[in-house]
Amino acid sequence: MTESRRVPIAILLSGRGTNMVSLVRAAQEGGLHADVRVVVSNKADAGGLLLAAGLGVPTAVLSHKDFQTREAFDSALADLLARHGVEYVALAGFMRVLTPTFLNRFPRRVINIHPALLPSFPGVHSQQQALDYGARITGCTVHFVDEGTDTGPVIAQVAVDVRDEDDEDALSARILQQENALYPRALDDVLCGRLIIEGRRVLRAREAAGC
Ligand code: GAR
Repeated sequence: MTESRRVPIAILLSGRGTNMVSLVRAAQEGGLHADVRVVVSNKADAGGLLLAAGLGVPTAVLSHKDFQTREAFDSALADLLARHGVEYVALAGFMRVLTPTFLNRFPRRVINIHPALLPSFPGVHSQQQALDYGARITGCTVHFVDEGTDTGPVIAQVAVDVRDEDDEDALSARILQQENALYPRALDDVLCGRLIIEGRRVLRAREAAGC
């Protein structure tokens, strides 16, 4: 990558970490203008921690079980990220709802990826929700995080067909492929200032981008 600015980010996860790997690789290969300062998990046994360490990224564990309240956990999490100089936060399979205590420390700077076309199928088991509903199309969404569950302004979406023979695993795998490709591109648009937020709508900025 040239000497263009790289934005210090953290990636938060709770599990396997394929989206984290996709973001870190894109940052290392120049497709994402990010400096991944730390990967944090609320679960010590998250597979993504080992993958991050293998990619040379510092890792940390902050267990929500060590805190009495959501706010206490969120405050400690924000402090941890601040110590790493983080400006933006990418959630990548981080299965905790963040309170305003955290979000107010990173206003409009927390981004999430979700395995459905929001506002359809928020929450957990979104792929099974799509199958149970009988949807013919589902997909994935990158969005800004607000105080609700998967309710923030949509940055980018990709559709995935539901096939007759799909079960949860097969559909999840096809969506995940799209997630891994979409997340670095969508996050780069945010980090490089290519987007503006107007109410709920996220639009392309007319001004030249910052990267
Ligand atoms: C991904 O499918 C992501 O969209 C989902 O968890 C999975 C994490 O996979 N996130 C949510 O459901 C958040 N509501 P990964 O650990 O391999 O990136």
